[in-house]
Formats: sequence, C-alpha cells, structure tokens
Amino acid sequence: MSAGNSFNLSSEAAKGYETQKVPAIFAPIAKATLEQTELPENAAVIDIACGTGIVSRLLVEYLSGKGRIVGTDLNPAMLEIAKELMPETHHGVEWFECDVSNLPFEDATFDAAFCQQGLQFFPEKPEALAEIHRVIAPGGRLMLTCWRSVSPVFQVVSNSLKNRVSETAAIQAVRPYAFRDGEIIAALLTGAGFSNVEVSKIVVDRHFSPSRAAIRAEILSSPYEGELRAKGDKVIDAVVEDVDAELERYRVGDGLIVPQDTHLFKATA
Ligand SMILES: C[S@@+](CC[C@H](N)C(=O)[O-])C[C@H]1O[C@@H](n2cnc3c(N)ncnc32)[C@H](O)[C@@H]1O
Repeated sequence: MSAGNSFNLSSEAAKGYETQKVPAIFAPIAKATLEQTELPENAAVIDIACGTGIVSRLLVEYLSGKGRIVGTDLNPAMLEIAKELMPETHHGVEWFECDVSNLPFEDATFDAAFCQQGLQFFPEKPEALAEIHRVIAPGGRLMLTCWRSVSPVFQVVSNSLKNRVSETAAIQAVRPYAFRDGEIIAALLTGAGFSNVEVSKIVVDRHFSPSRAAIRAEILSSPYEGELRAKGDKVIDAVVEDVDAELERYRVGDGLIVPQDTHLFKATA
C-alpha cells in the first residue's frame, strides 16, 4: 500500500491553514455538507483526511457530544492543530495519523464517513475509496466533497508563481482543483462498491481581507510555502503585489468576495 500526500504542510503552514483557509472556505463547506446530512443518534463517524479537524469539530456539535468521532490524516502537523483545538479527552473525539489506503479499523466500524477535499490528493484513488467503503457499515453513508472548478484566486496566484518562482510551484497552487470531473468521481465511487451515488453543487462566497498581509498569509499556508520562502522577501512581496492587483475585480465594498464551487457526493456503502 502506497503512502502519499501531495498536500503536505509544515507546522507553520498548517497554522496558517487553520487561521486563514478554514474560516474562509473549509468551515462554510463543512456546514453546508452537514446541513444535508442525516445521522443516527450516537453515530460512529470517521472524518478522513481531516486536516486540522474542522469537520470533526462540527460533528461534535451536530451529534451534541454523543457518538464516536474519529479524525484521520497523514500529516502530523495538521493533526497537531486538530488535537490542540479538540483534545481527545473532550467529547470522545479520537485522532489517528494514517494513510487513507490503510485505515486501522475493523470492517463496518462506522455509520458514516466524511471526506472533505481529500480525494484529489490521494495517489491511489480506487484503493482509497475501497478502503473507505470497507470501514463503513453496509447501508451507512459517505459524504465527500471535491472542488468543481479552479479557484479564481489560486489561478491568479499560480500565474504569478509561474513568472516569479517556478513551474512546479505554479502547478502546486492549482493542484487541489486539477481532479474535478464529477462523472469520473461518481464512476470511481461506484467502482469502489458505493450505491445511490448522488452529486450536487455547493457554492461558497469566499470573503478575503484585501490587505497585503492577508494575501501574504494565504499564499504562505500552502504546499509551495518552502519554495516561495527560499526565494526571499522581495519575490514574496512581488507575488503579493501581483495577486493584490488581479483580485481588485472581486472587490465588494471594503472586502473581496470570490465565489468557489464544490461537488458534494452522497453515497451508500
Ligand atoms: C485540503 S486538506 C483538507 C483537510 C480537511 N478535510 C478540511 O476540510 O480542512 C487535504 C488533507 O488531505 C490530507 N491527505 C492527503 N493525502 C492523504 C493520504 N494519502 N491519506 C490521508 N490523508 C491525506 C492532507 O494531509 C490534508 O490534511
């Protein structure tokens, strides 16, 4: 079984992920997903590729502190933040560092699984989905989101990185959006054993602070952080300036509002 994570963040970038990206985009998507979810009381639920744990934290509220919630991720820096924000002593949440393709649970352990913006990073997608299917009880539910289009913000970041940093960094900036064909994802889910596969669209208005400090924090909480920092402050400032200028067209009043859409797949194990 091959371990792999193309969304691997340093401790510093993981902190930036939690403070920048989670409130702006990942928490609103998780809330929209949970609004469309029905879980039995005391459900046992797994949050796969949980990152800094936003879905698990919202599940604690959703289940009113009952049931069992397990968050799993491959990146220790992300899990460190998840543990700080929701220690295992609270509400029966458990955190596991593991690859999606090798989940340390018996067959049919969970009533439901969530996977928010993780699938696109899994190197072996059919194997990963089969493993997720294995740990859900027959008839249990999967709620999975994966971007539906390229973020206009990160397209702008990618264009600037291509000119000022490297082709590799430019590709990394839009990589989370590269795997987004809904029909292919639905076919993968069916191939992994899921039935009743339904797909819908969630659109979230991403609110950005137009300050250069916020843009800087945003671009440094990403997998290309190391390469960008290695180029030095002058290059970082130039990328920030490019992004600032390009994002002006999304200005609404004092802020920036950039729409981002995602697929929500619901399926039965
Ligand atoms: C964009 S983040 C999403 C995190 C979280 N679900 C959220 O909504 O904030 C993608 C996550 O996938 C995790 N990941 C990537 N490859 C993985 C793998 N093979 N097994 C487990 N987790 C993986 C990364 O470590 C990262 O935390």
